[in-house]
Amino acid sequence: MRETFLPFARPDISEDAIADVVDSLRSGWITTGPKTQKFEKSFGECVGSPYSLAVNSATAGLHLSLLAFGVGPGDEVITTPMTFAATLNTVVLTGATPVLADIDPVTLNIRPDLIERAITPRTKAVIPVHFAGRPCDMQALEEIVQRNDLVLVEDAAHALGASCRGRLIGSPVGERHAAVFSFHPTKNITCGEGGMVCTGCKEAAEKISVLRQHGMSKGAWNRYAATGNPHYDILFPGLKYNMLDLQEGAGGVKGTETAARTK
Ligand SMILES: Cc1ncc(COP(=O)(O)O)c(C=O)c1O
Repeated sequence: MRETFLPFARPDISEDAIADVVDSLRSGWITTGPKTQKFEKSFGECVGSPYSLAVNSATAGLHLSLLAFGVGPGDEVITTPMTFAATLNTVVLTGATPVLADIDPVTLNIRPDLIERAITPRTKAVIPVHFAGRPCDMQALEEIVQRNDLVLVEDAAHALGASCRGRLIGSPVGERHAAVFSFHPTKNITCGEGGMVCTGCKEAAEKISVLRQHGMSKGAWNRYAATGNPHYDILFPGLKYNMLDLQEGAGGVKGTETAARTK
């Protein structure tokens, strides 16, 4: 009999990660900065994504991806009932309406044929969830979104390291596509909290980069670093969804290196 409570998913935090967090605290640079940038680069290389944007949760990443592809009031977004609340909450927060297509009881993933049946003239996007890291049938989903001119946002919160028919989850699928990963403590790697948006779409990446930090044309690192310039513009109203260097230190680059070794 254990004396202490057995947690559902106790994160494995290395001494290196603890030292990295302490290093950030001592350096005086604790918000978004060089460590977050390094994490974005290493994560993009790990999953084969041209653009990777670190955010403070997968919830934030889903919200930003939908906004960047213009999902809003009057649109319908088809997704799965077998997920966490964040998938649907972020759709509702854009003003769009979530429409549920049922799952395959064996894979627990959304059924492509039921997505097709749920499509209406108002359908703008599809959000499949790779439940527990088991990839959805991406070939079928890609055909559906291309044939119907839809946005595809993969909820890849559980799916770092997963692949479908040789394609890593996180690498590009068509033009209007993003995949969003979570670094919550119960996920494959953790930063305490955190998320990453991966996309091959340059315009979406630029929009997400600005939207995640108030709509500012430049982040703090570009303004206050030695070579930075303090001037910035507010390009449009944004949110406050940036990842901190402190969070990265807790498991970002190191976690990605472990994930890359186990691919
Ligand atoms: C399928 C799914 N999507 C999104 C999220 C939200 O992730 P986060 O906690 O990083 O916002 C979760 C979290 O558990 C999840 O399981």
